[in-house]
Amino acid sequence: MRIVFAKDYAALSEIAADMVAEQIRTKPDSVVGLATGNTPLGMYRELIKIHRQKQLSFCRMVTFNLDEYIALGKEDPHSYHYYMKHHFFRHVDIPEANQHIPNGEAGNIGQECLAYEQKIKEAGGIDLQILGIGRNGHIGFNEPDVRFTAATHRAELAESTIRANSHCFSSLAQVPRFAISMGIKTIMQARSIVILVNGEDKAEVLDRALWGDISPEIPASILQLHQRVTVIVEENATKRL
Ligand code: GLP
Repeated sequence: MRIVFAKDYAALSEIAADMVAEQIRTKPDSVVGLATGNTPLGMYRELIKIHRQKQLSFCRMVTFNLDEYIALGKEDPHSYHYYMKHHFFRHVDIPEANQHIPNGEAGNIGQECLAYEQKIKEAGGIDLQILGIGRNGHIGFNEPDVRFTAATHRAELAESTIRANSHCFSSLAQVPRFAISMGIKTIMQARSIVILVNGEDKAEVLDRALWGDISPEIPASILQLHQRVTVIVEENATKRL
């Protein structure tokens, strides 16, 4: 596991964007796993800059998002479809056919999960997976549990995640209770992983994820077993390391 210390959020965002850009320069048709939440917003802004200023094309890139809320429409401003479109996709040249996000409105969620896994396989697997981390150690929507999840599945959000994500919604009651999420095995099968950790509120869980027991109680701790993980940590998140 490689740990990169960033002096602030701007530096974290630049380092992460440079890693994605380097992946695309080296292999333009890379399959990249994307994350949502506040943490990767700066990375997306930097990637848009790189696309415009350095004329780096993403036209052969294929993307798979980690997760989507169940029952939110693609145009719902709280959905991850909306987030990705507004913060990244509409500003770059990734063909729409190459952008994949689980469909939270699918009539048959089980079928949607199987189909999502199949699409990742058919694309050749994920070359580079971007992750954030929840305050309880979740990655994607893989919440603390008694066992690690495997493939893409219907995930129930932990109460603490519902509270943490409620700032984006007008009330706690509006936060969806379920999501479709890549599983731990899906994430671990990525050839390389970059996890972004920002802010003092992530310091304690980061310490447990990196140096604690590998346990489904802290889902991110499984990353200790992956051969190619880069952790980009902003200074305030290092306070417990
Ligand atoms: C959400 C997402 C995760 C994300 C996490 C942390 O629950 N499903 O993929 O990593 O929140 O978000 P933030 O970066 O806003 O702290």
